[in-house]
Amino acid sequence: MADDLTRRVFLGSAGIALAATAASAAPESGEGKKPGGARIIAISCSPRKGKGTAAALKECLKGSKGVGDGIETELIELAGLDIDGSVAAGVPLAPGRKDDFSSVAKKLSDPKVAGIIIGTPVYFSSMSSLCKSFIERMMVFYRKDVLAGMPVGVLAVGGSRNGGQEVTIRSVQDSLFCYDMVVVGTGRRFGAAVWAKGGVENDKEGMKAANNLGRRVAETSLALKG
Ligand SMILES: Cc1cc2nc3c(=O)[nH]c(=O)nc-3n(C[C@H](O)[C@H](O)[C@H](O)COP(=O)(O)O)c2cc1C
Repeated sequence: MADDLTRRVFLGSAGIALAATAASAAPESGEGKKPGGARIIAISCSPRKGKGTAAALKECLKGSKGVGDGIETELIELAGLDIDGSVAAGVPLAPGRKDDFSSVAKKLSDPKVAGIIIGTPVYFSSMSSLCKSFIERMMVFYRKDVLAGMPVGVLAVGGSRNGGQEVTIRSVQDSLFCYDMVVVGTGRRFGAAVWAKGGVENDKEGMKAANNLGRRVAETSLALKG
């Protein structure tokens, strides 16, 4: 995992303005917690703010918090943010257009971030386009190895019971392997597959898996932190 200096160099080279704060969430807990604590960030890649994916990720973060006082959590919702994947391929934004990726990148670059959970709705048995764009833009980290060695868990929320949650999880995980992240499962399952029918809270098994995923990402983060 990159040290603080590497992260600072990365921030400078990526031209990320430290004052930029457009990401749509604030820390849920842990303000003022002792230094050396670990922050787990959950990223909702649903274009619908506050819906099923966000709710299931909150359950993940409950699981993370349960691991101990040293764990801070934060939910970042990409809903409403403009994140253009083509930039990763070197296609510049139109003159005068600024998208929102740098504000999220800034949060992920904080040295306190010790683990990440990515949640996506299932769209035609795959991840949302927002999730794909986000993962493509993470390429700025790839070049600097900022995410290498960091634990990451994946959650997928579908409208059907067998709507493609598992293949969606695998697809996201495959991309994260490219970043050399430490992909963590729920314990004997490879991610949290959640069914949204009538609200994710009705899917007891799915929410249990979400909680387990958050717990295991936090436990792995602490173990790797030493
Ligand atoms: C374009 C589109 C494609 C979808 N495809 C699937 C699918 O393949 N399988 C499934 O179970 N649900 C599918 N759904 C339903 C969503 O996965 C479901 O509504 C989910 O709860 C959305 O997450 P959200 O509440 O965070 O927005 C699809 C929804 C949309 C809009």
